[in-house]
Amino acid sequence: MRLDKFLTETKTASRKEASSLARQGKITVNGCVVKDASRHIIPETDSVCVSDRPVIYKKHEYIMLNKPEGYVSATDDRNMPTVLELLPEKIRTGLFPCGRLDRYTVGMMILTDDGDLAHRLLSPKRHAEKEYLFKCERPLSDSDIIKLESGVYIEGGYLTKPCKVRKQSEQSAVITLTEGKYHQIKQMLGGVGNRVSYLERISFAGIPLDPALSRGEWRYLTDDEIDILKKAGS
Ligand code: URA
Repeated sequence: MRLDKFLTETKTASRKEASSLARQGKITVNGCVVKDASRHIIPETDSVCVSDRPVIYKKHEYIMLNKPEGYVSATDDRNMPTVLELLPEKIRTGLFPCGRLDRYTVGMMILTDDGDLAHRLLSPKRHAEKEYLFKCERPLSDSDIIKLESGVYIEGGYLTKPCKVRKQSEQSAVITLTEGKYHQIKQMLGGVGNRVSYLERISFAGIPLDPALSRGEWRYLTDDEIDILKKAGS
């Protein structure tokens, strides 16, 4: 990869800035000054420094966001704020939400620019596990739970896949899904004559929402979390 491309991909500098930094002798590759920003490097093995600071190469970005109410899971919307607007502008480029949450659903959301992995995580073949805490307007009976777990007919005559439901109280439970149909949990609860009053995603692909993140806050995934995500998508 060209050095200037490497510096733009790592969001260190624009192409123009990269050429200028190189000409000023501020860039080293494996300890040697490189004055030509078109020089090819191997990002995985070469060590690049700009003004003596190492530039860490990460091919993709993976972000955990605690989604608040009122934001849509999209990269662009004419009427509503999008989840991307919760991130600083300079890191937004190329990122998109990995799967959708409804406007009033809160909690765990992964944002990435890794289209291949997102596609694999959400494909019906591998669909990663997602856990949601819901509260509902009427008490949940044991027979409601059995129905939800074994499958409920929703929009279009679709029978939902078997899933797990762990009751938390008379009117709340944690449900684990491996698919993601439109308004699925709301529709499933509707299917047993109930109604969702609160919905929060508490984990995605085995990665729990970080309790240190308040609504609207985000952080980069750790290397261990990225490995978990990649394993879930493999
Ligand atoms: N099910 C829903 O009804 N809404 C969501 O946002 C996610 C799952």
